[in-house]
Amino acid sequence: MTISEHQGDIRLSSERHNASVTVNTFGASLHSWKTSVDANDGTEHLFVSSKSKPGGPKPIRGGVPVVWPCFGPPDPAEEQFSRLKQHGFARNSVWKHLASVSEGSSDELAFELTSTDEIRAIYALPFRLVYVVRIISPASISTSLTVQHLESGSEDMNFQALLHSYWSVDNIQETSINGLHNLDYSDKTRDQAHFTEAREVVAAEGETDRVYFDAPSSSVELRTGKGKLAFTFDKLQDVVVWNPAAKVSDGMADMEPNGWQRFICVEPGCIASKVMLKPGESWTGSQTITYTAT
Ligand code: BG6
Repeated sequence: MTISEHQGDIRLSSERHNASVTVNTFGASLHSWKTSVDANDGTEHLFVSSKSKPGGPKPIRGGVPVVWPCFGPPDPAEEQFSRLKQHGFARNSVWKHLASVSEGSSDELAFELTSTDEIRAIYALPFRLVYVVRIISPASISTSLTVQHLESGSEDMNFQALLHSYWSVDNIQETSINGLHNLDYSDKTRDQAHFTEAREVVAAEGETDRVYFDAPSSSVELRTGKGKLAFTFDKLQDVVVWNPAAKVSDGMADMEPNGWQRFICVEPGCIASKVMLKPGESWTGSQTITYTAT
């Protein structure tokens, strides 16, 4: 494998898997995953708005921002979240690049985030996050978040976590998701009312912002136009499906013109039930994505 670094971007090229990933230390934002890199620069699977910069200072609009320790606007009932912004601070903090290693059949990059004075001012609990991005095979990667509540903590830690993945699609109108049929969901475009998904194949019809609860770990598949992405989720049982459609997309300062037509977010997380860690405990949640060309 070959590692190159440029302005916070760490790019891992895996010659044996003919694939590459690029992660910026700002937010540990994975913002490129390419397969078949020897053919016309490869196939890019992640969307990043051309009006967004992976290196900050704003969270990246695309790729896979790491959402922690809260999802969406902070829960007012949760004292630990009271000074946080939407989606927490992991996505706009600078992480440390820990290591680049070849382990068995995977080539991987690891990043770490620990508290700083700036973070302590908004979030008091002592923590260590480790985020690992692995190229596992020519067609699959995984991204894995470990949360450690450090021994020095004195109260239990409750958190939500989400891997806010923006998948590149050829045309949103021809994009579909399988594997959500019969799941209960909360619809953020309808005052978070709860419904049950009646469709076997889900498409983004207009503004879509839903949290599907308790998805089976390996049933969700996305058809992007380029091919199929099959997901396996571990300890990330809720799945957000988000596409802002034209009106909301046009109002977003960091979204490229008509950007909504070129991505859909399929984001595994733990949202409905917060994870609880006692001091000294840790938790890992991950997603594995496998691409099949059509
Ligand atoms: C999704 C949420 O995960 O993220 C949406 O479900 C939200 O409600 C979207 O609009 C983008 O959030 P942000 O903070 O990156 O603009």
